Amino acid sequence: MKVNGQAMRTIWVGEDGETVLTIDQTRLPHRFEIIRLATLDDAARAIRTMQVRGAPLIGATAAYGVCLALRADASDQALEHACSVLLATRPTAVNLRWALDEMLAAVRNRPRGERVAAAYARAAQICDEDVAINAAIGRHGLALIAVIAGRKPPGEPVHVLTHCNAGWLATVGWGTATAPIYMAHERGLPVHVWVDETRPRNQGAALTAWELGHHGVSHTVIADNAGGHLMQRGLVDLVIVGADRVTARGDVCNKIGTYLKALAACDTGVPFYVALPSPTIDFTIDDGVGVPIEQRGPEEVTMMTGLTADGRLETVRIVPEGSAVANYAFDVTPARLITGLITERGVLPATREALAQAFPERARRSSSSAAVA
Ligand code: MRU
Repeated sequence: MKVNGQAMRTIWVGEDGETVLTIDQTRLPHRFEIIRLATLDDAARAIRTMQVRGAPLIGATAAYGVCLALRADASDQALEHACSVLLATRPTAVNLRWALDEMLAAVRNRPRGERVAAAYARAAQICDEDVAINAAIGRHGLALIAVIAGRKPPGEPVHVLTHCNAGWLATVGWGTATAPIYMAHERGLPVHVWVDETRPRNQGAALTAWELGHHGVSHTVIADNAGGHLMQRGLVDLVIVGADRVTARGDVCNKIGTYLKALAACDTGVPFYVALPSPTIDFTIDDGVGVPIEQRGPEEVTMMTGLTADGRLETVRIVPEGSAVANYAFDVTPARLITGLITERGVLPATREALAQAFPERARRSSSSAAVA
């Protein structure tokens, strides 16, 4: 992905070889600012306050959070403390727990003097693996888009609806839901994206629109409630969303509002795909009802931040003082509403059998208890 003409990842180690650089996503789309994470607390705060967000990027940031903690203190206690602080930052995206388990496995049995180097090496690998996984997701999803494009008159775009930001910004590179879109765009297949604004934090309007724009992909931002209408009118060829956790039987937990899009897609016969990397699968949970759903602060619903005419970022209140507010950040789409899961190992039916067959090593490993509780 290029930002202002420069190829970038969303997280990388600084020139000092130790501190970690990433984009402050709370400032987009109006400001592009890089932040430097130097300590465990910096990494935990960045995840908690959603300066970084999106399941794979949360995992990558947590991995580097462990590195930063070990830099200060490579003892067993410090390692355990770092993992518990990071695990507590956000409850829903299982990539966080997966990344911490990977880091523990990489460093725990090493002598103290080797731990920092081993941690940075594993964190870098996690990032490289994320880019490779997403590229594979992109190739499998591209085939789906190409089939639809082949049924259309030449030049007519394939219309993809997406929710939240499961894009480049949510991963280390490519994105999950956006990888097939970027690949289609690169191949010259005409593609147009309906971007759900994604209240309350507006990840679609602020982030997905920003990155599609930088990549030159045609897109239109819509109010969250518009998707069903567009599907009824035949204006959506397929839906592709991301996931924060996919259960063993294929239920998908993703940004609040995803379920309603799946219902509308089912009613109108629009294919509904979920793009996910294997670290997003939680083989320890079967029924999506068991996924912990994050509830965030009321200010995300009551307040809106935007750019004033004179170029200032300003936050205003849009809900009357005194009204009660609930802010559920995620919902669960049952497997039966999902046309297919686009994974790095192909497009799978959303079933227990298909997931276990495609990822036998993950399914097996989770029958022994997770390292990070
Ligand atoms: O609360 P967020 O912005 O972290 O939620 C992000 C999503 O719901 C994404 O769809 C999901 O993490 C997949 S990112 C590839």
